Amino acid sequence: MIKRVKVAVVGVGNNISSLVQGIALHRATGSLVGIRRPVLDGLGVGDVDFVAAFATSPEKIGKDLTEAIFLPPNNFPRLASELPLTGVTVRRGLTDAAEVERVAAELAGAEVVLYAAPSGRQETARAYAEAALQAGAAFINTTSDAVARDRQWLDRFAAAGLPLLGDDLTSQFGTSVVHHALLRLLAERGLTLVSSYQVNLGGTEDFRNLAENSTTKLQSKLNALTTADGSTSDRVQVAPIGYLAHLKSHKVAHINIEAQAWGATSVSLDVKLKVHDPSGAAGVTIDLIRIAASALRQGRAGYLAEATPLLKSPPGTAI
Ligand SMILES: NC(=O)c1ccc[n+]([C@@H]2O[C@H](COP(=O)([O-])OP(=O)(O)OC[C@H]3O[C@@H](n4cnc5c(N)ncnc54)[C@H](O)[C@@H]3O)[C@@H](O)[C@H]2O)c1
Repeated sequence: MIKRVKVAVVGVGNNISSLVQGIALHRATGSLVGIRRPVLDGLGVGDVDFVAAFATSPEKIGKDLTEAIFLPPNNFPRLASELPLTGVTVRRGLTDAAEVERVAAELAGAEVVLYAAPSGRQETARAYAEAALQAGAAFINTTSDAVARDRQWLDRFAAAGLPLLGDDLTSQFGTSVVHHALLRLLAERGLTLVSSYQVNLGGTEDFRNLAENSTTKLQSKLNALTTADGSTSDRVQVAPIGYLAHLKSHKVAHINIEAQAWGATSVSLDVKLKVHDPSGAAGVTIDLIRIAASALRQGRAGYLAEATPLLKSPPGTAI
């Protein structure tokens, strides 16, 4: 019999809403739409259970996880009219390092800690990583803050026999993968890049936060565009992230590429991409959770190379 994965989530925002709802939808209907790996290391999408959840907003604390995911400022839509309660009551998250031991005790029994709080708060990310270490759980950092790409943290998880995956997700079909694929295609076809940029606009709380506090995110987005030879071309730019409330959970991205072809003639390419941003995260998070749990059970520790295509800033990329 399959042993279900026990996951604790940190941050009950839009990405967790999309993840919780997507798993419930799959369980209820068997739908495989948008699922990259129906079974990964023997674990199905429906084999992921939530066992703990942490939030800081007083409205979410004390609620069942299923109720908390619909509270503002979350604005990812409801995918189905019926959604079962998870039986997990949202607990108070940590706001300073003094609370690490309490949170570690509350993580007892979790195999994987999924860190999905706002990006740009490195000390908080590391405090939760410390709690995961103390609790003996694998840690997945979905934020752009440096944890897995800091050698000391990687060594500590490896020494403790625990997987550490991060940093920052590459959305399932987002600006990074599309932009990277187009730049690679250009090079493969022998064209010369003149200039390229991407613009990302969205209406989620994540976009609001990143529009004000984007330092680690912009570097992480550049890391995701790193070329095969390890260099990020200075001809590729990422515009500051823009928050437009009326877009709600949609992300609208524009990618422009100017290039030269045979005989130094010009080529110009413009792409507009519109997606639900939280689903881009959930669609890869479901795989990262199963990679981390499977590795933990097999006694594999530290960073796991099979996670690299799902991450913007794996170990070795710039901080
Ligand atoms: N496609 C994507 O959406 C995508 C891609 C890559 C990375 N990410 C990253 O994933 C993370 C989650 O994204 P989101 O859209 O769900 O963000 P969100 O802002 O909707 O959710 C974050 C939640 O964490 C809570 N929080 C803040 N401090 C906390 C603390 N100390 N303890 C516990 N909870 C705390 C916030 O109140 C909020 O509810 C962000 O860091 C984002 O940058 C998202």
